[in-house]
Amino acid sequence: MATTNQVKVAVIYYSSTGTVAALAKEIAATAGQAGAEVRLRRAEELAPQAAIDSNPAWARKARETADIPVATPDDADWADAVLFGSPTRYGNITSQLKQYIDVLGPLWAQGRLADKVYSGFTSSATLHGGQESTLLALYNAAYHFGGIIVPPGYTDASKFVDGNPYGTSHVDAQGENPVDETALTAARVQAKRVVRMTQALASGLAQS
Ligand SMILES: Cc1cc2nc3c(=O)[nH]c(=O)nc-3n(C[C@H](O)[C@H](O)[C@H](O)COP(=O)(O)O)c2cc1C
Repeated sequence: MATTNQVKVAVIYYSSTGTVAALAKEIAATAGQAGAEVRLRRAEELAPQAAIDSNPAWARKARETADIPVATPDDADWADAVLFGSPTRYGNITSQLKQYIDVLGPLWAQGRLADKVYSGFTSSATLHGGQESTLLALYNAAYHFGGIIVPPGYTDASKFVDGNPYGTSHVDAQGENPVDETALTAARVQAKRVVRMTQALASGLAQS
């Protein structure tokens, strides 16, 4: 854990068609503006190429985000705070992000994932399509890591507009509803809160 105010934040996400990627970029940019050193990383794609090619939006997004580095375990090890993002898959996180979390086992076994801040963000096609269950599923791993979960809660007036205290989320209506100002505001609120709480944790740990 950093002992200065410049905390390290890893934004690690999976996105097929760009919704979660847009949230991830906003969170990463805001965390950087708030004074953090930031790594934006995407979970490795695991789907067969034929499945990607069968969906033009997925294939286009894969090309557009090819330059974003693929997340490695070192990114979670390096970070003081990890913001995980995943679209919902039947109310759960994607296998791609889950695979990333699963390969963190050796770091977990060494206790290297403890005492960090964790926070999550998601998107779904429909309003009650599983955003909260996805975020809660995501947070399960953080408990096992010994992490400190920092959700946005209703800590800002804007949270009563977007309505999701568990994490930033967006309803994309199968691509018909791109990420909007409400979701971007939520992303900024969450990023700033994570940086602030991580700075507080870092300075507290430095004195303990
Ligand atoms: C296999 C699969 C399962 C999905 N399950 C759900 C679901 O349970 N509820 C929902 O609202 N959307 C579901 N979706 C839609 C995506 O979660 C949603 O469109 C998401 O915003 C896409 O994010 P992305 O653009 O970052 O890939 C599913 C999509 C796929 C491909």
